[in-house]
Amino acid sequence: MSPRQGRNNVEASLHNEYLQAMGIRQWVLRDRVPAVKGSAQRPEEVATGPGIPVPQADEYDVASLDWPALEARVSACERCALHATRNRTVFGSGDRSADWLIIGEAPGADEDRQGEPFVGRAGKLLTAMLQAVGYQRDQVYITNILKCRPPHNRDPLSDEVACCRTYLERQIELVNPKLILAVGRIAAHNLLGTDTAIGRLRGSVHHFGTDRIPLVVTYHPAYLLRSPLEKRKAWEDLQLARQAASGG
Ligand code: URA
Repeated sequence: MSPRQGRNNVEASLHNEYLQAMGIRQWVLRDRVPAVKGSAQRPEEVATGPGIPVPQADEYDVASLDWPALEARVSACERCALHATRNRTVFGSGDRSADWLIIGEAPGADEDRQGEPFVGRAGKLLTAMLQAVGYQRDQVYITNILKCRPPHNRDPLSDEVACCRTYLERQIELVNPKLILAVGRIAAHNLLGTDTAIGRLRGSVHHFGTDRIPLVVTYHPAYLLRSPLEKRKAWEDLQLARQAASGG
């Protein structure tokens, strides 16, 4: 077997595992050899917009906090109105020096109760998606744009995002990942400073911040639970993410 065939077989078996893990039924013509998905398309370089609000006076030292101090600062945060309705802040979880940094939108009811990101139904699907590309949850770092739950899971308001921004920026700096996976429209829009439709942001490698960390956009698992046919596109996004993380 040539090295290329070997790679294709690994790709194919990962692909099958992914489809299985995500509950996608595969249709194969009886007299056909299953098609092997080739490696993901070459990343297209896309310039990112600024989208970074100027920090308020009390935020400047956040950029110098270490992990314990940052976590303590977040758990005591009262910068926006969400502190009044939250049960717990949801700081982030996983490997603090991971290659992959996963950024979602905001805690939901389960996360607000448990203090951990992506632990509800959508979180279980995210975990399965990550496993399908070879990562356990504790091998990546997972956090959100907002650290507190918006009431009734409404979209984050721009002032709430601005209040949380320095915390997220410091987390990104501390993790220093090889790749950021922006999960869902809210994460993609806020990280890239754009309101372009998520369908158009997918399929390209963007870059975040002055360090130009590769950033790939994918659908939110809550959306995938409602639209299972889109899981195939999420698989392509994860392939692109793998390629971008390895400098491809
Ligand atoms: N949805 C998100 O975007 N983040 C979570 O932590 C949970 C659900």
